[in-house]
Amino acid sequence: MKLATSDSIVILTGAGISKESGLDTFRDTDGAWAKVRIEDVATPEAFLRNPARVHEFYNARRRRLGDARPNPAHEALAKLEAEWPGEVLLVTQNIDDLHERAGSRTLIHMHGELLKARCAFCHTESAWDRDMSVQDVCWSCGRRGGIRPHVVWFGEVPLEMERIFGALADCALFVSIGTSGHVYPAAGFVGAASSGGAHTVELNLEPSAGASLFDECIHGPAGTVVPEFVARLLAKV
Ligand code: APR
Repeated sequence: MKLATSDSIVILTGAGISKESGLDTFRDTDGAWAKVRIEDVATPEAFLRNPARVHEFYNARRRRLGDARPNPAHEALAKLEAEWPGEVLLVTQNIDDLHERAGSRTLIHMHGELLKARCAFCHTESAWDRDMSVQDVCWSCGRRGGIRPHVVWFGEVPLEMERIFGALADCALFVSIGTSGHVYPAAGFVGAASSGGAHTVELNLEPSAGASLFDECIHGPAGTVVPEFVARLLAKV
């Protein structure tokens, strides 16, 4: 891999990076989508039909954050951002806060954040660290029943796409970590980075759906392969 230390790097992470911190992935045999149906908890229609069920699903996920700690993969990415001379943009599909807690700062939560709420009526956002319910009243417009998790559901548009695709077009290295490659637009990032001339690397427990699109694939648990890969990059500095 030819890379100058002034080159920019874009990193995409998915649920696999948080697995060793004790948080469920989605599509593994013990993942969230093996236990509940997407159409019952993760679509705008589900929230209209049965908001209490949707709140129950995200409340349980939010409560689990308290027991989870960043693992060596999150920590290695924070170290990379701190020590790499060029730009490092971390884009995560995860709605947990483990990257922030590990020290990452230049971070886009393209699927939103569990620790934020949004009002479906007036669209304002707020920090939120407790259970959510249909009884909650909006801090801004005062209406009841519209408080929802600030997460991107199936059928909704992920956040900050323009900034992400701009960074993918300009980066020299794109690294995808712990994602199955089944969900777009994230699954298309490797193609966008390759078209811009970037070297592309997959770090995942097993080959993802898009593994053949990457220049290089390293398979193993994120807590092991990510620190090793970051050490390889920082050896160039
Ligand atoms: N280390 C590295 N990778 C792992 C580990 C681990 N310890 N454990 C599991 N994985 C890999 C799995 O092999 C799988 O390829 O992580 C991937 C997780 O895939 P998904 O469960 O599909 O999660 P993700 O790709 O993040 O899902 C994308 O789908 O449902 C939506 O909004 C949700 O953001 C999520 C999106």
